[in-house]
Amino acid sequence: IPVHPFDLVIFGATGDLSHRKILPSLYRRMLVGQMPAGSRLIGAARSKMTRAEFRKTVREALGEFVEAKHQKPEAIEEFLNAIDYVAIDATGDAGWGALAKKLDEKPDNIRAFYLSVAPALFAPIAARLAQTGIATPESRIVVEKPLGHDLASAKTLNAELRKHFHESQIYRIDHYLGKETVQNLMAIRFANALFEPLWNSHYVEQVQITVAESIGVAGRGAYYDKSGAMRDMVQNHMMQLLCLTAMEPPSKFDPDAVRDEKLKVIRALDPLKVSDTVRGQYRAGGGDGSYLDHVGNPASRTESFVGLRVHIANWRWSGTPFYLRTGKKLTARVSEICVVFKHPPHTIFPQVDTLRGNALIIRLQPNEGITLRVAIKDPGPGGMRLVEVPLDMTFAGTLGPDGDLPEAYERLIMDVIRGNQTLFMRGDEVEAAWEWADPILTAWEESGSRPMPYDPGSAGPIDVYKLTGSDGHLWREIA
Ligand code: BG6
Repeated sequence: IPVHPFDLVIFGATGDLSHRKILPSLYRRMLVGQMPAGSRLIGAARSKMTRAEFRKTVREALGEFVEAKHQKPEAIEEFLNAIDYVAIDATGDAGWGALAKKLDEKPDNIRAFYLSVAPALFAPIAARLAQTGIATPESRIVVEKPLGHDLASAKTLNAELRKHFHESQIYRIDHYLGKETVQNLMAIRFANALFEPLWNSHYVEQVQITVAESIGVAGRGAYYDKSGAMRDMVQNHMMQLLCLTAMEPPSKFDPDAVRDEKLKVIRALDPLKVSDTVRGQYRAGGGDGSYLDHVGNPASRTESFVGLRVHIANWRWSGTPFYLRTGKKLTARVSEICVVFKHPPHTIFPQVDTLRGNALIIRLQPNEGITLRVAIKDPGPGGMRLVEVPLDMTFAGTLGPDGDLPEAYERLIMDVIRGNQTLFMRGDEVEAAWEWADPILTAWEESGSRPMPYDPGSAGPIDVYKLTGSDGHLWREIA
């Protein structure tokens, strides 16, 4: 879909997110013709730099973070031509006049401000943008986690942003919502008649949501140790996956209709009991240091792994447990949602008990795709033996290699320009998710207990098996 010419101002343009994700994503969009002539990317950061110097850093970032097959010298030149730079003092006066002047050169361009900066700067920058008149009523402002540290700070942040911007102008990124398969979850559920009638506790035995990572926190220890897996992954990314899996069909595919339904899921969550949670912290191993080494804090009680058993108290889901787990330094990098269906009510085959049951597995990464596990007769003359096989809808097979799927940020940044908030979190969603997470974070802290150690390359601390095991269920292998 073509977009109107735009000016995207990236605050913190010299930082890691800008180099790794924002700029390469925009470059890839340009390659497919989605950056209309006259659009500009204006870097804004504290460093005193000329436009040429900033372009040089962008060129280096593209060299490092864009796949080799997309490194096209002419396209890179064209992209760099659209790049500008303003040195700005986020909390002082310097640079704001220059930014205003630059933007006024193209008054018809859509204005979007991406705050790729420390959260403490969100409110001061929002205020400056409004007070200087740089932000118009049509401008969009983009912020990204951490959106608060708890309910109180999230409320304060929302209130600060809303002093200067209307909710319809605020784009809160959760990059998981930009992932192709996450959007496909909505398509699978709401564009097919097949699944929805079965999508409830009468037919669904359990749901497992896994976001496993093989990397540790080395290099990000200072941020991570103040955050932990619950704040870093569960309150935001995993909560979004849970919502999209569990929500009622919205009446239309419209930002507020979708977000209203997600919000209802969060509000229907039963309060978490400590006994339904498992926290872990990885040990040293495989030639690498432990979590404590990586964060440089031998007394840290921050969790690098969380496992949860979650109950949704509504008609659709009452009685179906949702198991969530996420952690660093696990067996492999795997994100997936697995919906396990109940066994048939009556069995006519002898070894049905050895089958795991039908399951719909929505694979976010790697090997994006959707698989339906079904039982069939084991081919051959061996009698009526059953075997479970995947009905495979891996996108690599249907849509080309996964490298060709757009990156989450490509989709999300273009949605900002289009003014489509469907894949962005609304302020009330963020607050509701904190309201749910806060009591358990407090309970862990007050308990004074330490997370359970686990080996790097494992599936997490041993107790995580009890979460599913006590219901007679088994975690899927992380592979
Ligand atoms: C980020 C977290 O939001 O998501 C990181 O801060 C995590 O700790 C990352 O590694 C995972 O994202 P992805 O897209 O690699 O699954």
